[in-house]
Amino acid sequence: MTEKIAKPFLKWAGGKTQLITEIERAFPDSIYNNEFTFIEPFVGSGAILFWMLNNFPKMEKAVINDINADLVNVYKTIAFKPKELLSILEVLQNEFHSLEQKPEEKKEYYYEKRELYNTRNDELSVQAALFIFLNRTCFNGLYRVNKNNGYNVPMGSYNKPMICDFDNIFAVSEALQKVEILCGDFEKTLEFASNNSLFYFDPPYKPLSDTSSFNSYAKDDFNDLEQIRLRDFCKTLDSKGHKWILSNSDVKGKNPNDNFFDDLYSDFTIQRVKAKRSINANPEKRGELNELLIDNFSSKIYIPTQEGNRKMFTNFEKPFWTLVEKFPVELINFDSSRLSFRNPISSSEVDRIVENFDFDFWIPITIDKENFLIDGQHRLEAAKRMNLKYIDVVIQDTELLTEPKSKKRKKVLL
Ligand SMILES: C[S@@+](CC[C@H](N)C(=O)[O-])C[C@H]1O[C@@H](n2cnc3c(N)ncnc32)[C@H](O)[C@@H]1O
Repeated sequence: MTEKIAKPFLKWAGGKTQLITEIERAFPDSIYNNEFTFIEPFVGSGAILFWMLNNFPKMEKAVINDINADLVNVYKTIAFKPKELLSILEVLQNEFHSLEQKPEEKKEYYYEKRELYNTRNDELSVQAALFIFLNRTCFNGLYRVNKNNGYNVPMGSYNKPMICDFDNIFAVSEALQKVEILCGDFEKTLEFASNNSLFYFDPPYKPLSDTSSFNSYAKDDFNDLEQIRLRDFCKTLDSKGHKWILSNSDVKGKNPNDNFFDDLYSDFTIQRVKAKRSINANPEKRGELNELLIDNFSSKIYIPTQEGNRKMFTNFEKPFWTLVEKFPVELINFDSSRLSFRNPISSSEVDRIVENFDFDFWIPITIDKENFLIDGQHRLEAAKRMNLKYIDVVIQDTELLTEPKSKKRKKVLL
C-alpha cells in the first residue's frame, strides 16, 4: 500500500486544477451525504477525477471516458500493469537524461520515439510508456495529432524532466481500482449512471478565436454541432434525474454579443468564473479569462417528470391528449370554471409538496389548447412557489374529448 496521494500523471490542455474551488462550490449536497457515482465523459488528464478520488469518501465508484484511445490505453496500463509500465519508463528516462549534454542526440532521440509511437505497432504497455514520455518531453505538454492520428508536437526544452514517477504511478494505479475506464463517445456513459450520479463534463472548448484552436486533442473535431449534441445529452440526463456540471470557455469574453452558450443552456444555471489558462503558446496570452460553469441542480428552474411517471402518460389516448411537454409556467392561464375539480386548493398541501418534494408524486399538470389549467392546481402553485420557470404538461383537446364520449353515451342510451 502506498501512502502517496494520486495526482494527474499528464500535462493536458484545459487541465482543471485552477477551477477546483469554483467547481466544489457548485456541487450538490447529495454527494456529501450519500454514496454516489462520479462520471467524467471527457476525462483528459483527470484533474477533477483525482481530486474527487482523494476528497470524496462517499464516492462509491467512478466512470471515466475519453475518445482518445491512446490516452485511454495509458489509464488502463497504469491500472492493470503499473510495474511493466514503470520498467519501460525507467529505461526511457535514463536514456533521455543521459543525453542532457548532447542537444542534437537528445533531439534525435525524441523524434525517434515520436516516430515509434506513431507506428502504433508496439505492445500496449510500450505505447503507454511512449505516450507518457512524449507528454513529459514535448513542447508545453501538448497532445496534438494530424488527420492521420500522427502525433506531431515538437520537442520541448526541459532539463531532465521527470518521466518515471514511481510513487505517483503506483498511487494512481491503486486509485484507479474503483474506476471503470471507457473509450468512446461521451454519450456511452449514460448506461453507467446510478440512482445518485454526478456527471462532470469538460468538453473541448469552443475556441475563443480562430487561431486559438488548441481543442484538437483527438483527430475528430469538436465543432458547434458537437456542442449542441452535448447540450441535448445534458437535457436527456436532466430528464432522467441525473445531476451534471459542465465547464466551457466564455465566448462572451471575446464578443459580448455572442450568446452561444447562454442560448444553448438557457434552461439551466450558468455561472461565470475566473480561470487561468495554462496552455497557450504565447505566454502573454496566459492571462485571466472567464469560464462558464453550468449545472442542472444549483437553482432549479425546471423539475422534469421521472421516466416511470412519464410512461403513464404515453398510454393516454391520442389525439385527445398530447405527450408530456415542457411548458413555461408564466404562460399557463387560470379560470376556475375550466378546472376539472372546482374545490379550493389547500395551502398546506402546497407546502407539503414544496417542503417534502418527492419525484414520485411529480406528475404533469393538464392544460387545454388555450393553455388554461384543467388539472394540477396544487402542483402549479408549488411550481410557482419553487420559482420554476417550466413545468411538464399534457395538453388535453377538450373538444375532441367530449365529442366521441357524447357519441358513445348516445349509443348506450339508444
Ligand atoms: C478539455 S479536454 C479535458 C480536460 C480534462 N478535464 C483535464 O483536466 O485535463 C477534452 C477531452 O475530451 C476528449 N474528447 C473529444 N471529443 C470527445 C467525444 N466525442 N467523446 C468523448 N471524449 C471526447 C478529448 O480527447 C480530450 O481529452
